[in-house]
Amino acid sequence: MNQSPELFNRIDDAPPLSEAAAGLIEVLCDDDMEAGEAASLLAGHPELADSMFHLARAIHADDPRVESESILNLMNQFSPSVCLEWAAAGAMRDWLAQPLRGFGMAKNDLLVHSLATGLGVEYVARECGLPRPPLAFLSGFTHDVGLWIGEFVMHLDFTPVFDLIHKQGIAVDEAERFVWGFDHSQTGARALSRWGFPVAVCEAARAHHQPGLAPENLKTLADLVHVADALSRMAGIGSGREGLSFHTSSDSEKRLGFTTHHAEMAVFRMHDGLEKLSGWLNANA
Ligand SMILES: [Fe+2]
Ligand SMILES: [Fe+2]
Repeated sequence: MNQSPELFNRIDDAPPLSEAAAGLIEVLCDDDMEAGEAASLLAGHPELADSMFHLARAIHADDPRVESESILNLMNQFSPSVCLEWAAAGAMRDWLAQPLRGFGMAKNDLLVHSLATGLGVEYVARECGLPRPPLAFLSGFTHDVGLWIGEFVMHLDFTPVFDLIHKQGIAVDEAERFVWGFDHSQTGARALSRWGFPVAVCEAARAHHQPGLAPENLKTLADLVHVADALSRMAGIGSGREGLSFHTSSDSEKRLGFTTHHAEMAVFRMHDGLEKLSGWLNANA
């Protein structure tokens, strides 16, 4: 089906990020940013500061630098792009925690799936002996934001998509493109771009079901997000109805040198990482 521009353009009704988060993302996208500038943006926003602090300590639990007692100390010790991951994920937590009825996801399901995938990108990279790509966690965390956009911003009816999946056994993104002319990878990428997220994060979301389509310089990141997403679903972590309709790319696995042993180790770490994040996860309960 041809894309309906009117339907697709509903993305433009997406709410903005909070002013503090948007300002932080803009400042932290600049590698030469002054720590003081970011700190002043956080000053009147204790909730965001607190969320970033807890997320940072959970994500980097094995790193001695997270012993610091304040978010400002942590921000002085990590690179701007890592701090950006905490700010952006913190800003999106309450949105992703909402239940997605069209997708059969209960409250927190998408948030847990997003966290597991974000953590999984790091773990899969580690298991495959690859360096952590910049924005690894955030790229995994935001990959399915298009599902949230579809439900709460575009008000899409997912029924014909799942009818098609059940009848033809095709993957969810393929069914979405057939029904609407676009899929949640594209809507997510467009929303992330409007919110000022770095190009790598937008492209990883766009390619998470078709990693072969990622630009050459971002192919490894796209492969990692794709495989981490698959692992998270296989482990039954918050994937809703989409979990039943996912095809993993063997090309991604080959490019990464990913094996069954790596999968077992990464899933084990995913569960462990989610355990450490349970306080952050339930802060909105
Ligand atoms: Fe997806
Ligand atoms: Fe996913």
